[in-house]
Amino acid sequence: MKGKFIAFEGCEGAGKSTQMRLLSETMQKRGIAHVVTREPGGGPISEAVRKIILDGKNAAMTDECEALLYAAARAQHLADVVLPALGRGETVLCDRYIFSSFAYQGYGRGLSLEFLRQINAYAIAACMPDCTLFLDIPPARAFERKHGRDENDRIETAGEAFHRRVYEGYHALLGAYAPQLVAVDCSGTKYETSARIAALLEARGLLG
Ligand code: TYD
Repeated sequence: MKGKFIAFEGCEGAGKSTQMRLLSETMQKRGIAHVVTREPGGGPISEAVRKIILDGKNAAMTDECEALLYAAARAQHLADVVLPALGRGETVLCDRYIFSSFAYQGYGRGLSLEFLRQINAYAIAACMPDCTLFLDIPPARAFERKHGRDENDRIETAGEAFHRRVYEGYHALLGAYAPQLVAVDCSGTKYETSARIAALLEARGLLG
């Protein structure tokens, strides 16, 4: 049986890693076989691509090159990690996927969504998550939680207006891609958010 594929999205510092860890603990308790992975990265080749993309020294990188590198890392990560795990019947929890490209390279950088759909169609070969959870926290609050930006990270230092466009972009995508992309209210404690996520996945038959 094919495994289930759950992706997490959100602005920087939205708490994705914490929520993925809490969900992983819940799955472990329930005996659900799963892998936790991230984009860009998750394997040696895609981690190498990740370093090139995020390296603050690569200030001259064009937006098109950035988008193609994210798509390239995605294709490799799918082949190395996601597809094998789904094939074994395991659940995959993935930190970011295709909607990050639409939000960051599309709404953030201003590239056309059609260009991003096309290059990503090659990259993902129709492998879409069963559900993508958008952890809904405005970027200003998220950076506060994260205690500032990493000054050597090309995306984190892209500026406040950029991150606001990304956040608004996610909201536009929520309208276009419901119900496969769904917002999670993160205004409460991390445990309240985690309980919301578990309930949502349970209702969709994705938690066991
Ligand atoms: P990461 O340090 O994992 O950020 P976070 O912890 O906030 O997820 O770095 C990933 C960065 O790459 C993040 O700034 C978002 C960006 N990104 C894109 O711009 N496009 C994409 O397609 C993906 C997958 C990530």
